[in-house]
Amino acid sequence: STKKLWGGRFTTESAEWIDAFGASISFDQLMAHEDLEGSLAHVKMLKHTKILNATDADQIVAGLQELQLELNTGKLTFSVENEDIHMNIESILTKKIGPVAGKLHTARSRNDQVATDLHLYLKHRLPEIIGVLIQLQKVIIEKAEENVYTIMPGYTHLQHAQPISYGHYLMAYYQMFKRDIERFSFNQQHTDLSPLGAAALAGTTFPINRQFTADELKFKDIYANSLDAVSDRDFVLEFLSNASILMMHLSRFCEEIILWCSYEFNYIELSDEYSTGSSIMPQKKNPDMAELIRGKSGRVFGHLLGLLTTLKGLPLAYNKDLQEDKEGLFDTIKTIVPSLKIFTGMLSSLKVNEEKMAHATEHDFSNATELADYLANKGIPFREAHAIVGKLVLKGTQNGFNLQDIPLEEFKKISPLIGQDVYEDLKSKTAVERRHSAGSTGFDEVNKQIKNAKKELDF
Ligand code: ARG
Repeated sequence: STKKLWGGRFTTESAEWIDAFGASISFDQLMAHEDLEGSLAHVKMLKHTKILNATDADQIVAGLQELQLELNTGKLTFSVENEDIHMNIESILTKKIGPVAGKLHTARSRNDQVATDLHLYLKHRLPEIIGVLIQLQKVIIEKAEENVYTIMPGYTHLQHAQPISYGHYLMAYYQMFKRDIERFSFNQQHTDLSPLGAAALAGTTFPINRQFTADELKFKDIYANSLDAVSDRDFVLEFLSNASILMMHLSRFCEEIILWCSYEFNYIELSDEYSTGSSIMPQKKNPDMAELIRGKSGRVFGHLLGLLTTLKGLPLAYNKDLQEDKEGLFDTIKTIVPSLKIFTGMLSSLKVNEEKMAHATEHDFSNATELADYLANKGIPFREAHAIVGKLVLKGTQNGFNLQDIPLEEFKKISPLIGQDVYEDLKSKTAVERRHSAGSTGFDEVNKQIKNAKKELDF
């Protein structure tokens, strides 16, 4: 194995396979861009505070800028011998500009360096993630607008409960994704903080200027405590937790899509693009993409639990355990972004079988509440009305009739107050239309929700 940057106090070199176990370059090279950015800010600060003289600092700046160019054109290669992205870059810089490169690490440690890289990395990704969430919200709004008047069964316990508007159903998910966006935005507050200058753990005796580097890197603020700065990974935990909640939302939505394109439901049809066939059964059209998104929620939840477990026993400040913070974060981003994009495409291209949806509300007694409400409006206490309708439902299920099939004479036997107008109330469409309580499935209320959502998104 090669000479280590930190090798001064060592006499025996470790075996390659041991080095490989400790190395993080295979995954932390994803932060190469952020590492160069952080180093540039740091060296500019060292010049500004005259900790380094201008000649040295300018040489380092020029070297780092060249590395940026090489990175962007795919010319930088890293090696396991140099353990992680920080030491890889320092060693490449040394080859390029000579021993003056060694001055870059003045008043800095890899502990504040890696924390800075990770903050920058997530800070840059969060707006992209919020952006794809907004795209999904827009498709939801479009679909909801097309389907305000599409009637479907609303379920509780997966049993038909009351008819609702499919647009209303979609707008429920709009609200869930809105909260996801709010959580990611709040996450940004804890991410947009600079740990740089905390050094190893205790700060430094060099007259550094932390605000200068924070400004260079466009961080909103700096960490108030150097121990916290190098050991805090709450911002990553928050992200994994937000991502888990988001995946849970997508997974619920996918579960319904999977159910709904089954033969039994047949409420929707996925476009060919988002379906797959079977290698043996020629008739199959499988909702693979929806299943895969539902399945991928598991790995994201796993990353959250993994990092919580890694952190729970850690004493302050830096411990090598913290190197385990990255792969879960990277994989989570790599999972949620395409999941969101695939889901958005799938939703925007799926076809709704409006007739089948509406039909499903017509012979299922989901108008039972309407009849009970009708009786309550005629002065019969609701509990009594509930019992009366319950008995009718029992008779209907036993003898194969629906509430709307009951002749008026029979209704009159229950209460002489029941009139011809009861039949209008028993229609699913009327049941939806007549709901005017705020946030209800009533057409007017759904239209209001859509209008507000459009205003929120400026869409
Ligand atoms: N590769 C390390 C990590 O990901 C960088 C920090 C190493 N610091 C140290 N004192 N060993 O956490």
